[in-house]
Amino acid sequence: MIAFTKTITKWLPLLGLTLLLCLQVAFAQQPAEKPADGGGGDDAAVAAGKALYDANCISCHSPGGEVVVGPGLKGILERRTIDWLIPWVKNSQAVIASGDKYAVDLFNKYNKAVMTSFAFSDAEIKSIFAYVKSYKEPTKTTDAPKDGQPSTASSGDGGYFNVLLVVLLFVLVLIFTVLMLLLSVINRFLNQKTDLNEADLELVNQKFEPSKVFNSRPFIVGVALIFALVTLKATIDGMVDIGIQQGYAPTQPIPFSHKLHAGQYGIDCGYCHTGAYKGKAATIPSASTCMNCHNQIKRGSPEIQKIYTAIEKNRPIEWVRIHNLPDLAYFNHAQHTNVAGLDCSKCHGEVAQMEVVQQRAPLTMGWCINCHRETVVEHANNNAYYDKLLAYHQKQGIKKMTVENIGGLECAKCHY
Ligand code: HEC
Ligand code: HEC
Ligand code: HEC
Ligand code: HEC
Ligand code: HEC
Ligand code: HEC
Repeated sequence: MIAFTKTITKWLPLLGLTLLLCLQVAFAQQPAEKPADGGGGDDAAVAAGKALYDANCISCHSPGGEVVVGPGLKGILERRTIDWLIPWVKNSQAVIASGDKYAVDLFNKYNKAVMTSFAFSDAEIKSIFAYVKSYKEPTKTTDAPKDGQPSTASSGDGGYFNVLLVVLLFVLVLIFTVLMLLLSVINRFLNQKTDLNEADLELVNQKFEPSKVFNSRPFIVGVALIFALVTLKATIDGMVDIGIQQGYAPTQPIPFSHKLHAGQYGIDCGYCHTGAYKGKAATIPSASTCMNCHNQIKRGSPEIQKIYTAIEKNRPIEWVRIHNLPDLAYFNHAQHTNVAGLDCSKCHGEVAQMEVVQQRAPLTMGWCINCHRETVVEHANNNAYYDKLLAYHQKQGIKKMTVENIGGLECAKCHY
């Protein structure tokens, strides 16, 4: 009987701790779950809107607050009506030309950057804004949606997890109350007995002492276990993110601005990235390329002095590499820029408007493949090399020859 009381008093704190933790987790889950079911609206339209948004708008607009090329679209339906938005998306230049004050001001504010026009139906545009409205900004930066994998997959698991938690919570409360009841019954019973020795009496009449609880083995084991679990989760999250560095924009040793050099002064990308049209790697310019201009321009600036120091000490400027494919993948710039005629911005965003270069594309295999599935090989129409291929595809009823059709999904094309 005494031994039983001992065991219960020993494990009770741990039970209480688990209970508290479950409560905490359950409540922390609550707000995150809300928008999924409370958002209302037409789920199919939101999903269609998201697909359109990710394919057409995301390169210039964040569905959240921050500015990319254009403004973040958070709260757009409070700023503008849908009747204004539909013609805007179809042809923003026409809205600006009509003299609409809001449009003109916005255009000027964004340095007269021209937004692409889209031949979407009204319903499609409405679905895009339904998605924007339903969009919730991730709380952590690492939670940014990756490569078309929406967070909906995990919200389904989240539902299960919550049900499980509630059940667990209920069982724990039950055990807790039963144990408490047992304990008080036993204590009362033992108190009526007279043949108890000193130590047992102390145990029976003991008061709740926090210091004892914190030093007890079950408590320490419990804390260690929880700590281990949290660490494990962080590690798994970290592993999922490996190799995906979308949004990566490190601070560089010299605050070199593309916005100034490539944007304002219009220096051609190929002037500095000499391999971008000719070779596999685009290459980063050496300090001597900077000197073509900076032996005259802004010599006194401390930032320019860093270039001088690098040359004097014969040490390259240690630029932090941003885009980086793993060794197992083969990528060739000339194939894409020169042969396929793709603009740098297709993969790198509007670098000429970036103060600090940021990785815009996820650079995952899925990203490469998606583009190869969708992109029509345009130059095929006026290139003798492709004539036979084109004729072959037309015979098979394929009107538009995509990169996929010319073997762009074959493993060996991208993997050594
Ligand atoms: C090539 C970049 C680019 C793309 C792609 C693009 N936009 Fe824009 N968008 C802009 C810019 C830049 C502005 C700011 C006005 C301007 O300069 O014309 C803008 C403005 C807007 C505005 C007004 C924002 C405000 O705060 O009032 C809306 C709404 C909008 N775009 C929606 C869309 C949607 C929807 C798509 C996709 C179907 C899209 N845009 C695709 C560049 C782009
Ligand atoms: C005056 C020289 C210069 C010009 C012009 C220039 N760049 Fe750069 N670029 C650099 C330097 C230096 C770096 C490395 C420092 C940095 O990341 O800002 C760089 C970095 C980059 C990176 C990131 C490289 C990495 O580490 O992954 C990209 C992408 C890029 N440039 C694209 C462009 C594009 C596109 C243009 C044309 C619109 C352009 N650059 C024009 C000098 C230049
Ligand atoms: C089809 C997509 C695509 C296009 C178009 C493209 N790039 Fe890249 N770029 C990449 C990828 C992928 C990497 C990473 C390559 C690696 O790690 O091997 C990269 C890397 C770079 C780098 C880092 C240094 C290097 O050579 O790896 C620079 C600089 C760069 N690109 C500049 C440019 C410029 C300038 C243009 C336009 C002339 C351009 N890119 C066009 C996909 C593209
Ligand atoms: C084709 C000419 C040209 C080349 C090449 C060039 N720059 Fe510049 N750079 C300029 C001009 C023009 C300015 C603006 C000067 C001003 O604000 O008066 C400038 C400004 C700068 C500034 C700002 C200096 C300050 O204190 O305001 C930095 C930093 C800089 N360049 C770094 C570089 C680096 C690093 C390279 C080589 C990768 C480079 N530049 C290559 C023309 C060039
Ligand atoms: C923006 C669209 C786009 C993206 C993103 C893209 N590619 Fe491509 N890629 C093309 C086009 C278009 C061609 C066709 C070039 C041609 O006509 O030969 C091509 C061709 C290729 C080829 C030659 C295929 C062949 O049949 O000869 C390879 C290899 C390749 N890409 C690798 C990659 C890798 C690796 C990535 C991702 C890191 C990537 N590409 C991302 C558009 C893209
Ligand atoms: C268009 C180019 C391209 C084609 C085609 C391609 N891959 Fe990849 N693959 C990549 C790139 C780029 C990566 C690196 C992705 C990353 O770092 O996340 C990669 C990564 C991988 C990886 C490493 C694991 C991973 O997910 O990071 C494996 C395995 C792989 N590919 C297998 C294949 C197989 C099998 C095929 C043929 C069915 C294939 N790939 C076709 C571009 C391609």
